[in-house]
Amino acid sequence: MELDGRELRNALGRFATGVCLITTVTEEGEPLALTANSFSSVSLDPPLVLWSLQSNSDVFAVYSGAKNFAINVLAGNQQELSSRYARKGDHLLDPEHFTPGEHGGAPIINDALVSFECSLDTVHPGGDHVIIVARVDAMHVRPEGEPLLFYSGAYRALA
Ligand SMILES: Cc1cc2nc3c(=O)[nH]c(=O)nc-3n(C[C@H](O)[C@H](O)[C@H](O)COP(=O)(O)O)c2cc1C
Repeated sequence: MELDGRELRNALGRFATGVCLITTVTEEGEPLALTANSFSSVSLDPPLVLWSLQSNSDVFAVYSGAKNFAINVLAGNQQELSSRYARKGDHLLDPEHFTPGEHGGAPIINDALVSFECSLDTVHPGGDHVIIVARVDAMHVRPEGEPLLFYSGAYRALA
């Protein structure tokens, strides 16, 4: 059966997710953020997580080669950050939005629900994406707050 691309995208969008900012620092020392909802847990022992990165991204080389990065799960009041760092070719992080992480230096987004400081484990081919598997080295958990959700192409909140 030949799948229609738009219908497939719509069908996949029926899986509700949270929203993350994946942050890293370039070799030149520039902090970057990219919005992603492909984050998933993989393993508790060892502690592994994954996300997938579009192969045609302007920042593909930086993110697919980053030894350290952070996965920041956004809170319900951070939709503006999600939209901002999803803009094509516009991933430079505003200094007001983060503090440097202690483990590897990846930017920790202020007031995120949780931030995982990660080091790269493996990169796997995944069609028009690559699947980035990483080890969690440290985490910063905000005990309260509601998540930002993404469902059917729109931002949502918990009822
Ligand atoms: C809610 C949402 C989730 C996204 N999830 C991903 C993702 O998991 N992986 C990814 O590579 N891009 C994802 N994107 C797209 C990127 O945030 C961004 O729009 C895209 O990378 C822009 O192109 P550029 O990387 O060439 O600048 C998502 C965008 C939005 C709005």
